[in-house]
Amino acid sequence: MDLPRVYTIRESSHRIHNPLSREKLAVLGDALSPPPGSRMLDLACGTGEMLCTWARAHGITGTGVDISTVFLASARARALELDVAERVTFVHGDASNHVAAQPVDIAACIGATWIGDGVAGTVDLLRRSLRPGGMMLIGEPYWRRRPPDQATVEECHATTESDFRALPELLEQFGELGCDVVEMVVADQDSWDRYVAAQWLNIRRWLDANPDDELAGQLRAELATAPARHVRYQREYLGWGVFALMDR
Ligand SMILES: C[S@@+](CC[C@H](N)C(=O)[O-])C[C@H]1O[C@@H](n2cnc3c(N)ncnc32)[C@H](O)[C@@H]1O
Repeated sequence: MDLPRVYTIRESSHRIHNPLSREKLAVLGDALSPPPGSRMLDLACGTGEMLCTWARAHGITGTGVDISTVFLASARARALELDVAERVTFVHGDASNHVAAQPVDIAACIGATWIGDGVAGTVDLLRRSLRPGGMMLIGEPYWRRRPPDQATVEECHATTESDFRALPELLEQFGELGCDVVEMVVADQDSWDRYVAAQWLNIRRWLDANPDDELAGQLRAELATAPARHVRYQREYLGWGVFALMDR
């Protein structure tokens, strides 16, 4: 079980594998201001930037779970670099059934709600690890503008328009799931570019170094069209945010 190589090529330089900039990730940490020693679980943690930077800035401890051995190696290296390796642990595995051995103060799933088969299932999954009164963090897309056609829907990585909601409806959904929304930080077009445009340079550098790789044709074709597709579709129509939730 591992993340297909094409993803780790596209996001080889990324520390944050979602459309929040590092500044926005820090703003979220400052806004939540978890007390030192807070225990955190991050399902589908990627390269562990949230755990590592919040361990350094706020003194949290935490565990990240991910299927990508490449991303987990980067997460462990980052923990050493930030001198927080004794505070954070990274576990290779499928997060879709992962429950913390001891209840945590903050349970997160940022940009991977498919592990719970959607928002509702992911809230249920996170609740299983949460102490009473704890906080959940969900990173999720929403429609910034209503998609005018099916091409826009598919270019925003949805199958049907109903795969995502508009922001007010997403916040209402959290309420219907029994949660108060207590904070949020959302992406903007510039922070989308830090996530997506950074992939183009990664791909180009990789292509230059690996012209004969079996993925070269696919990634060469992707690079030829990805920039215009990004600005035509995702950058205009798709919003994305991290939402902090507490059970009512
Ligand atoms: C969009 S990235 C988000 C990573 C990280 N949360 C962040 O925001 O930087 C999605 C992550 O989900 C991981 N992933 C996908 N399916 C998974 C699963 N079933 N269990 C654990 N991790 C998974 C991928 O390896 C990838 O790191």
